Amino acid sequence: MSFPFKPAPLGAAFLAAGLALGSAFALGGILQRQAARSSHQQPTMEHWLEPTTPTSPALITKGRALFLDSCAHCHGADATGDEGPDLHGVQVSDRYIANIITRGIPHEMPSFAKKHGAADITALTAYVRSLE
Ligand code: HEC
Repeated sequence: MSFPFKPAPLGAAFLAAGLALGSAFALGGILQRQAARSSHQQPTMEHWLEPTTPTSPALITKGRALFLDSCAHCHGADATGDEGPDLHGVQVSDRYIANIITRGIPHEMPSFAKKHGAADITALTAYVRSLE
């Protein structure tokens, strides 16, 4: 009776699997660093996996009005930045933007959870997203 696996092909298979895994991690690292360069916060890989929230001109208009009321004194009326950063082309996911608006950033940006409900936050996110 012969041995079911020959040791050499098995070793080669492990080596190939290791190489594939290693290059996948390396690619992830490159993509992440590239995004980090153009954004303030460390983005997550979700940005590439997540479908973007549906948007419309009406939603963006509503978001802009809310932005002028709540955010413009820090991010500038045209969102090009003042005390807060320029929000054009932020390389983060919609969920990340919504989280920042909801929770704020300690010592940097207030939480808007009490002021804006889910519909407002969807509109604000659509507006920030439209600045790309
Ligand atoms: C008190 C000033 C202030 C207000 C008001 C404010 N922000 Fe911010 N925001 C900041 C600062 C400062 C940062 C950057 C924090 C950091 O770099 O750690 C920031 C960061 C952000 C980011 C992340 C940008 C990135 O590249 O990661 C988003 C998105 C954002 N703000 C959206 C908003 C929205 C939308 C509103 C209104 C609902 C708002 N902010 C209101 C000060 C403010």
